[in-house]
Amino acid sequence: PLMAIRSFADNAVQFLERGKPERAGENLRRISDMTQRMGRIIQNLRAFARQENMPQDRVELCAVLQSALELTRGRREEVGVRVVYRSPNKKIWVRGGEVRLGQVFLNLITNAVDAMEGQPEKLLEIEIIADDAVTVQFRDNGPGIEMPDKVFDPFYTTKQVGETGGMGLGLSISYGIVQSFGGQIKGSNIEGGGAIFSVTLEPALENAVAA
Ligand SMILES: Nc1ncnc2c1ncn2[C@@H]1O[C@H](COP(=O)(O)OP(=O)(O)OP(=O)(O)O)[C@@H](O)[C@H]1O
Ligand SMILES: [Mg+2]
Repeated sequence: PLMAIRSFADNAVQFLERGKPERAGENLRRISDMTQRMGRIIQNLRAFARQENMPQDRVELCAVLQSALELTRGRREEVGVRVVYRSPNKKIWVRGGEVRLGQVFLNLITNAVDAMEGQPEKLLEIEIIADDAVTVQFRDNGPGIEMPDKVFDPFYTTKQVGETGGMGLGLSISYGIVQSFGGQIKGSNIEGGGAIFSVTLEPALENAVAA
């Protein structure tokens, strides 16, 4: 986005010189959007760099989920997916790394959006169940999983190449990530339609010292 910001800024100067303040304002708005995006990218890179040194970290689940929801907002709104998620009013600490857990949630949300694309009603329900272990459930009302035994296999995909992406790596990478946190990821079909994916993680004490 840096190069884009520079050219939008240069153009804004020209628009102002030519007496077109509305066009200049448009550019400034886009610059603002892009700096937000850069902020997120930098945040991720910093978290990633930090995490490399601390493989067994703990992370606040709701914050990671929230940022995955934000990162997918553009595409969710484009496709018209309604998300039902009530954030618990407390912090939930689990064992894991911020960037990698974010990647897992991102892929589960994207998969649900992909699955529901093109059908009239699109609903994604996300629920956190904090017990002895902490489980996050993603339920969609899409067509369901074609081959539940295959979804975690590398390169298994039912998506057309080049369309919405789809290398068939998302879930196999997610499987490895969740396992490295000592957790579990499962996927199955819901009676009556749709798919449910759940990620179960080990709770981490809020004031525990990272091992
Ligand atoms: N919510 C879902 N509903 C129905 N099918 C699903 C759902 N999530 C995953 N699948 C099936 O599992 C396959 C593998 O998913 P996975 O995330 O590993 O790969 P992908 O989404 O196809 O590609 P990538 O994640 O690499 O971009 C999908 O192609 C799809 O067939
Ligand atoms: Mg995927």
